[in-house]
Order: sequence, then structure tokens, then C-alpha cells
Amino acid sequence: MIIREFRRQDIKRVLEIEKASFEDPYPPNILIDIYNLGAGFLVAQQDNIIVGYIIFWIRFEDEGHIISIAVDEKYRRKGVGSRLVETAMKIFKKYNINKIKLEVRVKNSGARKFYRDMGFSEKEVLKNYYEDFEDAVLVDKRLK
Ligand SMILES: CC(C)(COP(=O)(O)OP(=O)(O)OC[C@H]1O[C@@H](n2cnc3c(N)ncnc32)[C@H](O)[C@@H]1OP(=O)(O)O)[C@@H](O)C(=O)NCCC(=O)NCCS
Repeated sequence: MIIREFRRQDIKRVLEIEKASFEDPYPPNILIDIYNLGAGFLVAQQDNIIVGYIIFWIRFEDEGHIISIAVDEKYRRKGVGSRLVETAMKIFKKYNINKIKLEVRVKNSGARKFYRDMGFSEKEVLKNYYEDFEDAVLVDKRLK
């Protein structure tokens, strides 16, 4: 498996994974807009197939933000998500970013465990964070 920069022609497959992974997927144009605004965007590729991706902001002065991460269900629990987060963390470090944040649905116990296992701490519950009024947990990790 390789982790590489997103290319525009990857968008169809990324959207397929996004749609299958979230009940409230980002609309197609939003992901491209975020990318055009300068977000970091990496994909995991295995045997020529994109199996996962991560999108993150690298622009804030000393704080990074993971916007979305998802792995095709067939390829989960094989270390793909961890490799994506680790590669993003290396990029954050290059930009001297020392803290990463993200929000995860309270009920997304699998992802919450994934982040805890990657050394993230759960900080606070953000009430009614999502459009369907579900709560989020804010998690973060110090990089230095
Ligand atoms: C969260 C997600 C990206 C993890 O990707 P992944 O490739 O399966 O993660 P990894 O294989 O690197 O997992 C590393 C460790 O995290 C933990 N973990 C990952 N998914 C887990 C789950 N569903 N339940 C419990 N623990 C989990 C495990 O400890 C795992 O190690 P193990 O498989 O040796 O037990 C993936 O489940 C996914 O795409 N989910 C749907 C989208 C989503 O919820 N994204 C996060 C939104 S904030």
C-alpha cells in the first residue's frame, strides 16, 4: 500500500468511499472546494485501487484540523487509517503545527476508539454539532 497526494481524477473513488462511510457525506463540490482552498489531501492506494483518504487543514498557525478520513469498509482494520493519520502528522510537523484537532460523532464508537489508540484525547462534547443535532466529541493530540 502507498500513501500519496490526491489527484483530481481520484475524486470519483474518494466520493464513493465518503458516501459509503458517512450518513451525512460531504457533497462532491465541497471536497473539491476544500482541496482548492489548500487543504492537505492524501489517498491510500493498494494494487491501483484507492482504499482510503484523509483531508486536513495545514494553514492554521499552530493547529491542524482533520476534516475527513475514511477507509473502504473492505479494507478496514488493516492499518490503512493509521497510516493516513501518521502521514498527515508528519506533514503537520513539517509546518511546525503542534496540535491536531477533530470532531467525531458521539455514537461513532469505532472511530473514537481508533483515535484513542492513535494517542488522541477526548476533550469535550460539542452539543448539537451536526445538522441532525447529534453531538460531537472534540478530540486532540499534541505533536510536540
Ligand atoms: C475510523 C476509520 C478511518 C479507521 O480506519 P482503519 O483503516 O480501519 O483503521 P486501522 O486499521 O488503522 O485501526 C487501527 C486501530 O484502531 C482501532 N480501531 C479502528 N477501527 C475500529 C473499530 N471500528 N472498532 C474498534 N476499534 C477500532 C483498533 O485498535 C485498530 O487496531 P486493530 O485493528 O489492530 O485492533 C474507519 O473505520 C472508517 O473509515 N470509518 C468510517 C468513517 C469514519 O467514521 N471516519 C472518522 C470520522 S471522524
